[in-house]
Amino acid sequence: MSQASVEDDEGEYGPLLISALEGNGGISASDTKKLKEAGFFTAESIAYAPKKALLAVKGISETKADRLLAEASKVVALGFTTAMEVHTRRQEIVTITTGSKELDRALGGGIETGSITEIFGEFRTGKSQLCHMLSVTGQLPVSVGGGQGKCLYIDSEGTFRPSRVLSIAQRFSLNGEETLDNIAYARAYNTDHQTSLLIQAAAMMSEARFSLLIVDSAMALYRTDYAGRGELAARQTHLAQFLRQLQRLADEFGVAVVITNQVVAQVDGGSAMFNPDPKKPAGGNIIAHASCTRLYLRKGRGENRICKVYDSPSLPENECTFSILEDGISDAVE
Ligand SMILES: Nc1ncnc2c1ncn2[C@@H]1O[C@H](COP(=O)(O)OP(=O)(O)O)[C@@H](O)[C@H]1O
Ligand SMILES: [Mg+2]
Repeated sequence: MSQASVEDDEGEYGPLLISALEGNGGISASDTKKLKEAGFFTAESIAYAPKKALLAVKGISETKADRLLAEASKVVALGFTTAMEVHTRRQEIVTITTGSKELDRALGGGIETGSITEIFGEFRTGKSQLCHMLSVTGQLPVSVGGGQGKCLYIDSEGTFRPSRVLSIAQRFSLNGEETLDNIAYARAYNTDHQTSLLIQAAAMMSEARFSLLIVDSAMALYRTDYAGRGELAARQTHLAQFLRQLQRLADEFGVAVVITNQVVAQVDGGSAMFNPDPKKPAGGNIIAHASCTRLYLRKGRGENRICKVYDSPSLPENECTFSILEDGISDAVE
């Protein structure tokens, strides 16, 4: 079981690079250079962009934006299709194993690629451990539940530990050094920086096959950068833009996007009457709407943790137990 396959089929993999648009409709190499500097690396990124986002790129005129959209729409499918085709395509969606059969079952196979999964819970509930686990399993061949791609890891809390990756790699008989080399790591220092890292992420994804983008934690810096009550609106606007970029990367490159989030005390509503310790994920509706699948982690006994599928477009609400062990996430131990 080698990660060498990560490199093997790069050629046939996915997105159409933006250079493919050059020469059509008066689009020049200098245009695509400007676009790349602004984070547009693929024809998909152009096709999915609202016109005003292209106009915001320095040196792109109104006429040019129209031409770009016209050319991109010739090579990227944007119209209606049949539900049958959607069904067929969804059956091909790769899921990444969590290392726990129970948890995989609750998730319908594992963490889904091409969409955003949010993991929230109190501290020490295993959010970061699960991220470390996925950074390894995402590299495994698809045939054994992997995503056969590299991993991008954005760490806003400084809790990434390569030693954890090495322990987990051993469990799958992977070469430790190669496994670490396949994880591109960046520490994020503020919310602007966290957002700008996504431009680099897009550049890297257009050059090699990635299966996973992790942001641990997506919300932490927002809670400190925008601490005041009066800053809430500005925070939510910035957060919405960040999440929109994440969604774009999931759509464009088919990667699984995994974000973690904290919980905050639930002060509103009447739920406090029925629940002695009401908690809800931070970030409000903005993050709720952006996350496709939401998982709520809580502590169980000892190394056991409980995961609740809190929200999903296709999975029932359900709970399961898993364990955090030295070699990563596993089924629950008694
Ligand atoms: N090497 C390890 N072996 C077993 N369990 C570990 C190891 N390292 C950390 N843990 C467990 O992981 C827990 C921390 O989980 P973490 O993912 O950091 O929490 P969160 O990100 O939700 O705050 C600790 O309580 C500890 O029990
Ligand atoms: Mg953590």
